Amino acid sequence: KTVAIVGCPFSGGQPRAGVDQGPIHLVEAGIIDQISTLGWKVHFDGHHQFEDIAVEHDPPRGIVKRPRLVSKICESVSQAVGKHIQNGALPLTLGGDHSLAMGTIAGTLSKHPNAVVIWVDAHADINSVNTTPTGNVHGMPAAFLLGLPSTETVPEFSWLTDKTNSSIPRLQANSIVFIGLRDVDPGEKKILKENGITAFSMHEVDKYGIGEVMNRALDAVNPYRDRPIHLTFDVDALDPSVAPSTGTPVRGGLTFREGHYICEAIAETGLLAAFDLVEVNPSLTDDFDVKQTVSVGCSLVRSALGETLL
Ligand code: ARG
Ligand code: MN
Ligand code: MN
Ligand code: MN
Repeated sequence: KTVAIVGCPFSGGQPRAGVDQGPIHLVEAGIIDQISTLGWKVHFDGHHQFEDIAVEHDPPRGIVKRPRLVSKICESVSQAVGKHIQNGALPLTLGGDHSLAMGTIAGTLSKHPNAVVIWVDAHADINSVNTTPTGNVHGMPAAFLLGLPSTETVPEFSWLTDKTNSSIPRLQANSIVFIGLRDVDPGEKKILKENGITAFSMHEVDKYGIGEVMNRALDAVNPYRDRPIHLTFDVDALDPSVAPSTGTPVRGGLTFREGHYICEAIAETGLLAAFDLVEVNPSLTDDFDVKQTVSVGCSLVRSALGETLL
């Protein structure tokens, strides 16, 4: 039982500085000791190193911002995550912004092509090149992972989207499920519908309760409970009163318990293969809010790694 920490001090998928400090705060808050206390060996040899590409050398590709930088780090994160899985460890990626999920999920799929993705977020992050209102890649990773047609027009991401290369594992629309959505762009709603993707918005969480939503989410992508699970958790899925320090907060989110229940239910399956915790931004709020957000981030990780209440 080993957890391999991939700290990713990266903010290039969105415009606000500070989200690159998220992983540093999580490690300083003691996340490594906390995971060890649960009985895991923890492998961490410093935060992921990557070469910066200055913005003047990285002009937008159409509307898509920082394509070279985002692509490059995601490709290297994908290799790091793949290597840890190869070595039998469970990669825990600490972001950084959510564009990193292209790397982490591609890395998981490279070793577990049958893995499913549980995407916990206020946003669907499934804008295509044709629908993104912002050009920020952290709003688009799911579209690139699915290889939606317009994503092939960004040559920087061909390592992920090239359909002529059959060795690239592709995420299938029936292998991803969303939980916690409440700020979905019109183009994203269309993409979710057209691809038949299962999504549980806050409306469904209110209506059925988080217990039933988790049963239904697992039944949708993993009916026989036999496929490895990649959990990608955007801290903005939580209500801003619970996790205020994040770049794109949206009110009406998951409670503290609902967020933890998701992690506990996945831990109970025994199928967790990789976990991302992203979008913690310590620069946007006062110290009290940062402490609260970092501490809830640590406790979500502990729940996913098997901490129980009794
Ligand atoms: N939907 C908006 C966009 O495409 C916001 C995305 C926010 N994503 C996130 N990972 N926080 O820009
Ligand atoms: Mn090492
Ligand atoms: Mn989000
Ligand atoms: Mn997100």
